[in-house]
Amino acid sequence: MQERLKELQTEALEKISQTSDLKELNDIRVSYLGKKGPITEVLKGMGKLSAEERPKMGALANEVRDAIAAGIEEKQKHLEEAAVQEKLALEKIDVTLPGRPIKTGNHHPLTRIIEEIEDLFIGMGYTVAEGPEVEKDYYNFEALNLPKGHPARDMQDSFYITEEILLRTHTSPVQARTMEKHEGKGPVKIICPGKVYRRDNDDATHSHQFMQIEGLVVDENIRMTDLKGTLEVFAKKMFGEDREIRLRPSFFPFTEPSVEMDISCKICSGKGCSVCKGTGWIEILGAGMVHPNVLEMAGFDSKKYTGFAFGMGPERIAMLKYGVDDIRHFYTNDVRFLKQFSIHE
Ligand code: DAH
Repeated sequence: MQERLKELQTEALEKISQTSDLKELNDIRVSYLGKKGPITEVLKGMGKLSAEERPKMGALANEVRDAIAAGIEEKQKHLEEAAVQEKLALEKIDVTLPGRPIKTGNHHPLTRIIEEIEDLFIGMGYTVAEGPEVEKDYYNFEALNLPKGHPARDMQDSFYITEEILLRTHTSPVQARTMEKHEGKGPVKIICPGKVYRRDNDDATHSHQFMQIEGLVVDENIRMTDLKGTLEVFAKKMFGEDREIRLRPSFFPFTEPSVEMDISCKICSGKGCSVCKGTGWIEILGAGMVHPNVLEMAGFDSKKYTGFAFGMGPERIAMLKYGVDDIRHFYTNDVRFLKQFSIHE
């Protein structure tokens, strides 16, 4: 009996040492230490032993049980520890690995041009003004010296909503609105970017909806040379210090005198190419000295105050600056086009 018990102990410890599975270990526990296990079985024969031997055998059986239980417990600890280690190894994170780049959006090329122009003028003391896109005929035309029936109204085919209300055809009405707010007192120094609308058929250079940036300065002693100097700073900052500007006489009902500004063509350096249509110059914007009628209608004394104004199309500027050949690219939002202006990557 003693031998059988020893045998069982060796056998169980052997099995315990061989297993590397927690479930199997539990099976071993049940089979050796359970009520129906071999140790219990052996002890059933105790009745045949002498009174002297019985307690000895009982003590030995307890020893064997304890040894097996201790073996199981130790192995269990070991296996559990190993499982934790394995899990940790599997879930290990290499914090030194480079991260995956996150795809981010980007400012639209037109937004970037407008912000660049805004920054430039803010740096010269201008503030940014805004006005409504659904505008009164009065501000869009009449207050700009374009009374009803004026032939120059035809230059800007309009979307009328009622007889007196239309989608603004240019940002110039913000001139009249801003001056009115100043109640006859200078200085006024604003730029106004915004959307404008005209009844044009869309093609490579026309869009029924486009953007303009208006500029207006009104104060005492504002002269044509102030306009010229301002436009020169703008042109050189936007297109490069090596650019020349020239002012050509033109006509706008709201300015007198009126000019158009050209910059020298960068592509051919003035020799003439397809971009400048052989002239060496590229038209950039319209400008002039604010017409006395416009000042007076907005409540300014035109004997005391003078001013200059200008208006430009940021699409045209972006097209020239980035070499874009079709204005529609700015509005169709093809990501292949927009991606080229990404400041990331
Ligand atoms: N409003 C004019 C247009 O849309 C552009 C313009 C010309 C604006 C001369 C001005 C200016 O302020 O002085 O064609």
